[in-house]
Amino acid sequence: MSKHTLNINGQLQAVDVAPDTPLLWALRDSLNLVGTKYGCGVGQCGSCTVHVNGSPVRSCMVPVSAVGKQKVTTIEGLDAKVTHPLQTAWQELDVPQCGYCQAGQIMSAAALLRDKPHPTDADIDSAMGGNLCRCAAYIRIRAGIHRAAELANGKKKVAK
Ligand code: FES
Ligand code: FES
Repeated sequence: MSKHTLNINGQLQAVDVAPDTPLLWALRDSLNLVGTKYGCGVGQCGSCTVHVNGSPVRSCMVPVSAVGKQKVTTIEGLDAKVTHPLQTAWQELDVPQCGYCQAGQIMSAAALLRDKPHPTDADIDSAMGGNLCRCAAYIRIRAGIHRAAELANGKKKVAK
């Protein structure tokens, strides 16, 4: 074990873990930020997605020692400018089924919408391709991202 200072959701946080501990477990076990989910543990499912310096990364694959004081954002710390449209769209369209993959889906979607406020289907498929959903809610996830983009751009009418 050794002490590491991480920059999580805008706050410096100390964790006492082995240097090769995946960021995922520092978040969940040391900091009780359990919105980030463990799926496969080998970088294949996307359920553990967080942002590091604004880019989506698989937190199961990044050791704490490699994170340093880079800015980590978890589902608990997303900017309201993107979370509110995404949350509203997700509720309007009933996007989740079991919900397990959804924090990772939203983290990837948030990064996409920040970079591309008007994503095409191809943009969405490319950005979301690494986020698996065992409930196969892919059609609703894509629709939810389009709807969140509409909401973020001021269109309030409910999508059908
Ligand atoms: S748990 Fe990290 S990619 Fe699956
Ligand atoms: S909603 Fe169940 S795994 Fe995606």
